[in-house]
Amino acid sequence: MTYIFAHRGASKYTPENTMASFQKALELKADGIELDVQLSKDKIPVVIHDETLKRTTNGKGFVSEHSYNELRRLDAGSWYSHQYKEEKISSLEEILIWLKPTHLQLNIEFKNTVLPYYNMERLVYDLVMKYDLKKRAIYSSFNHYSLRELQRIDRGNEVAPLYSSGLYEPWNYVRKLNTKSAHPHWRTVNTNILKNFAKHGIKIRSYTINDPKKMQWFFDQHVEAIITDVPDIARSVLEGVHQPTPSKLMTVFQKLNPLKSYK
Ligand code: G3P
Ligand code: MG
Repeated sequence: MTYIFAHRGASKYTPENTMASFQKALELKADGIELDVQLSKDKIPVVIHDETLKRTTNGKGFVSEHSYNELRRLDAGSWYSHQYKEEKISSLEEILIWLKPTHLQLNIEFKNTVLPYYNMERLVYDLVMKYDLKKRAIYSSFNHYSLRELQRIDRGNEVAPLYSSGLYEPWNYVRKLNTKSAHPHWRTVNTNILKNFAKHGIKIRSYTINDPKKMQWFFDQHVEAIITDVPDIARSVLEGVHQPTPSKLMTVFQKLNPLKSYK
């Protein structure tokens, strides 16, 4: 059975990466949440996608230029809707405390491809350990050196390289990283690639899949998980409540997938 991860929380219905978005994900029966982590000026891991504040808060400048207390004073919900004007930038710790008593799995994405966040891996790892969440945590990043660092800190960490282009034989690359998970953009996989990942026991959690037909295709491939902004739609597709027709399904996927014809 494929797991459903809510991308930045249930980010279609609520302001992304806020407590409201994670609560909504739980309410919509997601199996897990995906969130993005940056560091504040005083080295507190905070949950926000961009390096800068402009898009999703009423603040200005870089996240890393502000202390956690300064970040907490910002409004992280009004950009989405007035209804969410009380939403704040959360610390990762706050989310871990909230998540602990739930059933949710947790995908922590390190946003460290643009800015060098010194020691970020250790800071995040220590928090996960503090709340005894190691078994439910999956660390991902587009910065694969960061994933190596997480493995160096603890060989038992589950790390998953994110990638978004047509890597050649990506299963061999993932094996070289010495890990058993990968998080490819949906456009970068085809049946041959998924078959090879499966052959090597590599779990695939593909992102960001919001279209029911694409969801159905991935469920049919028995991937480990899909990462979606709309966990409720994914759940209804998975449970067969919403059934896209197979012919349409293939047409859509074939049309959109640039790797469709490669072996
Ligand atoms: O982890 C999957 C996805 O979140 C990666 O891209 O930009 O949405 O963080 P982005
Ligand atoms: Mg992300």
